[in-house]
Amino acid sequence: MRVLSGIQPSGKLHLGNYFGMMKPALELQETGDAFLFIADYHALTSVSDPDVLRQATRDVALDFLACGLNTGKTVFYRQSDVPEIQELTWLLSIVTPMGLLERCHSYKDKVVRGLLASHGLFSYPVLMAADILGIQSDVVPVGQDQKQHVEVTRDIAIKFNQKFGDVFKIPEPAIRRTVAVVPGVDGQKMSKSYHNTIDLFGSAADTKKAVMRIVTDSKTVEDKKDPERCHVFALYRLFVTEAEAGAMAERYRAGGLGYGEVKKALCERLQAYFEPYRKQRDELQRDPERVNQVLRDGAVRARVEILKTLKAARRAVGLD
Ligand code: ADP
Ligand code: TRP
Repeated sequence: MRVLSGIQPSGKLHLGNYFGMMKPALELQETGDAFLFIADYHALTSVSDPDVLRQATRDVALDFLACGLNTGKTVFYRQSDVPEIQELTWLLSIVTPMGLLERCHSYKDKVVRGLLASHGLFSYPVLMAADILGIQSDVVPVGQDQKQHVEVTRDIAIKFNQKFGDVFKIPEPAIRRTVAVVPGVDGQKMSKSYHNTIDLFGSAADTKKAVMRIVTDSKTVEDKKDPERCHVFALYRLFVTEAEAGAMAERYRAGGLGYGEVKKALCERLQAYFEPYRKQRDELQRDPERVNQVLRDGAVRARVEILKTLKAARRAVGLD
């Protein structure tokens, strides 16, 4: 089974990214051939400062390697080191109906948020389809918000195969029900665009500040509370066993538990969870050549796969 996912280097990674995409993808590297990449072509649709892009690309590479990416097994690369993806994008765009792209929520949301309504932003899902189909991926672990893009990828692959013969595998999105949407400190979906994130490797002070900002209702300590409606609990349960989450839920329902106490427990768990990764990250940061080498090796391996697919696609349309 082949697994592929990518992430844009467009800001610091946060708990939503980690539980929605990174953790499931890193777990799947044990069960299949995993391909993970830094979607820097995609990031150009929203990042216009080259230094910011370079820094964010380095940060994403460090974050993934620190959080357990196994470079012996997983092919880890930078999208722009595999330029064949662009040619594949063109071949796919030939069969992509405008209507399919016009229906994409992500484009509309981003334009509402002020991003330039460029052709690149509009055709973003076709580039994403090339990422996925080029590697012939079976499974694409992503958060709920990317589901539509994987569905668009499926539609494009089906259209191409119908018209030109079977070139592409039809991929499936893999979305964790329990963490489909990780809430941010304001209770909306955690997202860097909403400025409501808790970053993976923020300083202890920043993490504490963010946790303390999580919105709660105005119940007093004595009041009985519903854990399922509490964003602090939703985040806490990501870090603990089912039994521990169950015990905490009981205390919510019984009354006598203040939100401050749960926030403190969340802070402790969160910091303990990322502590080993942070150490690993600090070490890697001191060795940038090692990180560059991993990405160069990854690009070589990814290119082999994409070239195979591209050749088949070129042959199918008559460009051989
Ligand atoms: P952001 O919303 O901060 O810009 P991205 O859109 O770059 O994040 O998302 C990168 C990956 O992380 C995607 O697979 C996305 O589905 C996942 N993801 C982002 N935020 C969340 C969240 N709050 N809950 C679950 N998954 C998320
Ligand atoms: N669009 C994805 C996001 O914003 C990133 C991405 C690009 C991706 N290409 C992909 C994810 C291919 C999975 C597979 O998060």
